[in-house]
Amino acid sequence: MVILQLKQLSYDYITKAGKVHALKEATASFENGIVYAIVGRSGSGKSTMMALMAGLDAPKDGEIFYRDKSLLEIDRDQFRREHVGMIFQSYYLLPQLTAVENVELSLELAKYKGNKRQRAEEMLTLVGIKKEQFKKRSTQFSGGEQQRIAVARAIATDPEIILADEPTGNLDNENSMNIVRILVDLAHQYGKCVIIITHAAEVAEQADVVLKMDDGYLLNHP
Ligand SMILES: Nc1ncnc2c1ncn2[C@@H]1O[C@H](COP(=O)(O)OP(=O)(O)OP(=O)(O)O)[C@@H](O)[C@H]1O
Ligand SMILES: [Mg+2]
Repeated sequence: MVILQLKQLSYDYITKAGKVHALKEATASFENGIVYAIVGRSGSGKSTMMALMAGLDAPKDGEIFYRDKSLLEIDRDQFRREHVGMIFQSYYLLPQLTAVENVELSLELAKYKGNKRQRAEEMLTLVGIKKEQFKKRSTQFSGGEQQRIAVARAIATDPEIILADEPTGNLDNENSMNIVRILVDLAHQYGKCVIIITHAAEVAEQADVVLKMDDGYLLNHP
């Protein structure tokens, strides 16, 4: 089922030097249960497109549909909070909080109704963090573990769409594959729509569909 659709999306950045046409009429459809990789050289518009898909910003032109609703008609912030989980290259965990508190905080912000501690612990277990580690501060984990905690945080509210911007950019091969395996499982076992921006060929290889961007254009779209 198609859950996210981009129709002729364009985006410009206004700088002192003039307009930068970062995204040019991108059209695509994304389904649940599928892992997408977005590849393309630096500056080709990948992060710009992902920010629009996450509802972080509105396109200058074109339209995004979540299921059959246009993001122009629904609250973008609410869409993001309820339906999107995001993962970044730098994990952005809060250093003063423990692993479990980092995940709980995202549940708090999303006004999660159930037992937050229990849900946070389940998510950490799902990504392979051991119970003994739950109360350790996030800075005391390795990079690979921190990214797994960030994944737990992103999926805690059970979003349908998981967006990851170079999630393995700071990780060695073993840890990269660990994260990719979790992301693939989220799509194939839990039916999520997983979209991963990556520069790594071995990450893109694990995706079901690879999309390429070049100079603001999305080339081969599904
Ligand atoms: N905040 C900004 N202000 C002005 N220009 C920007 C801004 N962010 C990105 N750009 C420009 O928009 C274009 C697309 O950038 P974007 O970050 O989307 O590329 P990318 O494909 O994610 O690159 P990378 O692989 O390096 O992360 C580039 O020309 C970039 O310089
Ligand atoms: Mg980028």
